[in-house]
Amino acid sequence: MLNELARVRAFAKMQSSPTTHSVSFFHLLPLSPVMEPFRYRDGELYCEEVRIADLAHEYGTPLWVYSSAKLLHEYRAIQEAFAEVDPVICYSVKSNSNLSILKLLNSAGCSFDVVSGGELYRVQKAGADTTRVVFAGVGKTDAELRQALEQNILMFNVESEAELDAISRIAASMNRVAPVALRLNPDIDGKTHAKTTTGKKGNKFGMDIERHNQLANKVLNDPHLELRGIHMHLGSPINTTEPYEAAARKALDVVSALRSQGHQTNWINLGGGFGLNYRGTEAPPAAEYAQVILPFIKQAECRLALEPGRSISGNAGALISEVIFTKREGGKLFVIQDAAMNDLVRPAMYDSFHRLWPVKPTVKPPQDYEAEIPGCEATDVVGPICESGDYLAKGRYLPPMQRGDLLCTFSAGAYGTAMSSNYNSRPRGAEVLVDGTQVRLIRKRETYADLVAGELFAVASSVADPAPTDEA
Ligand code: LLP
Repeated sequence: MLNELARVRAFAKMQSSPTTHSVSFFHLLPLSPVMEPFRYRDGELYCEEVRIADLAHEYGTPLWVYSSAKLLHEYRAIQEAFAEVDPVICYSVKSNSNLSILKLLNSAGCSFDVVSGGELYRVQKAGADTTRVVFAGVGKTDAELRQALEQNILMFNVESEAELDAISRIAASMNRVAPVALRLNPDIDGKTHAKTTTGKKGNKFGMDIERHNQLANKVLNDPHLELRGIHMHLGSPINTTEPYEAAARKALDVVSALRSQGHQTNWINLGGGFGLNYRGTEAPPAAEYAQVILPFIKQAECRLALEPGRSISGNAGALISEVIFTKREGGKLFVIQDAAMNDLVRPAMYDSFHRLWPVKPTVKPPQDYEAEIPGCEATDVVGPICESGDYLAKGRYLPPMQRGDLLCTFSAGAYGTAMSSNYNSRPRGAEVLVDGTQVRLIRKRETYADLVAGELFAVASSVADPAPTDEA
């Protein structure tokens, strides 16, 4: 493997020499490699300084490719935008929980938002300082609460009275004082997908202001609880800044009221949800969110925590697949490729739009991926899974493609692998992290043996147990 990696790196280095790059027939995005790490050069797609085609050849498809520069750039952009108040940026582990990605962000000073004992375990494994970790989620179990207390986390984002009682009980049993923030459901419309809106009345998340105030008083009288602050998360992704302005204003009001009642509370956590440029430039930059949020945080004289996931990992990752067949049926052109809804479920689940283009295109990549593009044909890009919902794009204008061609699905770094499964007994693809000309394998491609590794033959059979093979 080392030799193979060395070969890829050497090749990438050769490809990245200035002379090889001086002529480009393709449109270059007017963005730096850090802002847009996946770029077409000399007729083919690169991630940073590495040819995507080489990675696919080396690691097979489907393949997840991430750019370290982009991950770090997006984390730092948020950190810098809010620097005035020295924020704690808690990367939302749920968006992409690969250990190497956590480790990379940790090394840059990032903290973490977790929603399960498993995510906390990952953060521990990545060597993070758990005293800066926040823990959200409506259904924390006793074991998870105990684990988090043992790890001295910064605070629990508490979602209900029952949870507050459980935290108090467990903290008492451990002779501890548990730090909590109450999650307010502010009834603010984040204007996002119905399945990912969380800050509206009627969602399962958080509590209304009456209950919030009632529980705040309960904390005041409980020696095993300490009210550190207020938490809100409006939904995801939120491509406008107004909902954050409304939330920050509300947080200031609530904190002021709590202090007048004798609370020492001094944290405001506005959750995650910052937008992502899936289509073009629809998401405001971090500085614009900061502009509407900061005045309220400063006025409240509070510490600020944020839980961005997608805006850090989303555009740092792409999914590479290979065309298996094409077919025309029912008046449509289908490109059947080897990535499916088990790999990237977002189009099937939320009708999400992901830009998609061949790795070595015969037509230059467009500015507008939703347009009718000359030389292209409306195409349904589908996977091999036995469901009509198994698609990555529908009616998308794409250049002619054939068996063996490589295809890139962009903006797949967030909620891609994190939501992937083995549906249809499909082994998941490898994940690689690119850093300049360097390539690191950060998750091995699964084998057939991996698929059945946790299963036991508990049923008596008259025939001999089949021996699983390692072939994938
Ligand atoms: N904090 C809390 C409490 C959350 O529930 C979430 C996301 C985040 C932070 C991070 O949000 P982000 O910055 O990544 O937008 N699977 C869906 C997204 C679900 C988001 C769930 N909660 C998708 O693929 O669009």
